[in-house]
Amino acid sequence: MQILDGKSCSEQIRREISEQVSGLRAAGRRAPHLAAVLVGDDGASETYVANKVRDCDEIGFESTVVRMRAGTSEEELLGRVAELNADANIDGFIVQLPLPSHIDEHKITLAIDAEKDVDGFGPQSVGLMCLGLPAFVSATPNGVMELLSRNGIETEGKNCVVLGRSNIVGTPMSILLSRNATPGNCTVTIAHSRTRGLQELCARADILIAAIGRPGFVSADMVKSGAVVIDVGTTRVPDASRKSGFRLAGDVDFDRVAPKCSWITPVPGGVGPMTRASLLQNTLKAYHNRMRESDV
Ligand code: GUN
Repeated sequence: MQILDGKSCSEQIRREISEQVSGLRAAGRRAPHLAAVLVGDDGASETYVANKVRDCDEIGFESTVVRMRAGTSEEELLGRVAELNADANIDGFIVQLPLPSHIDEHKITLAIDAEKDVDGFGPQSVGLMCLGLPAFVSATPNGVMELLSRNGIETEGKNCVVLGRSNIVGTPMSILLSRNATPGNCTVTIAHSRTRGLQELCARADILIAAIGRPGFVSADMVKSGAVVIDVGTTRVPDASRKSGFRLAGDVDFDRVAPKCSWITPVPGGVGPMTRASLLQNTLKAYHNRMRESDV
């Protein structure tokens, strides 16, 4: 069994981006600039955004956090999105999810300018990705593809089961892995809460991607010997022994599953850091796209 080390792989990607930024700065160009909108004070969202800011600092990107109170109206948030769309200093931005329940996430996603949609959640990004054209690909699936490709994991002709059908992870993951590309060319099944015979289905997978947000859901009997197991789950589970009061738990029962695998991602240190690196890649892409269009 080998560990798919997202921490070291993401460090490599960050080093590559950092070198590119140094080159741009040496040539007298401005740095790429990412903005993140944070509505309310959800603890996990605070941490995600703080990590994104730290990543930007480390690699030489500019970053801006737009904080809005939990009671922000949909109109106020749409107004802020319009300002960021029009802001020539911002190359890309994200609106951190989840949003308070009185705000329609789809409305906000649809309002983000396609050129700045570095989360890759909008219809143009998703459509381009489905067509196999250059696109901002949602950060987690993109991170998984990088992890497979940078570790030389063969995917062609493999049976892949994706557990979970979210717009952000499961659905784009299934499209990317079934595309005629490398990595890709898998035979993909998307499994979800209504899937029958889940254990047998998963046990036939050469590549199993778990993205359902249920700690320890994938047990050893669901995994074929020699499978590649990618754990996208990062659920906060109360843990009094930690200073934070919680630990991050994956969707896979790692201790029992790992001995059966050829490759497996740990949690933490697997997909999470790759997701963060992907957002930086998308921001650099947005920057170059905008530079090509105008001399901002
Ligand atoms: N919440 C959890 N993951 C994400 C993400 O990748 N992007 C945004 N905008 N919100 C999130």
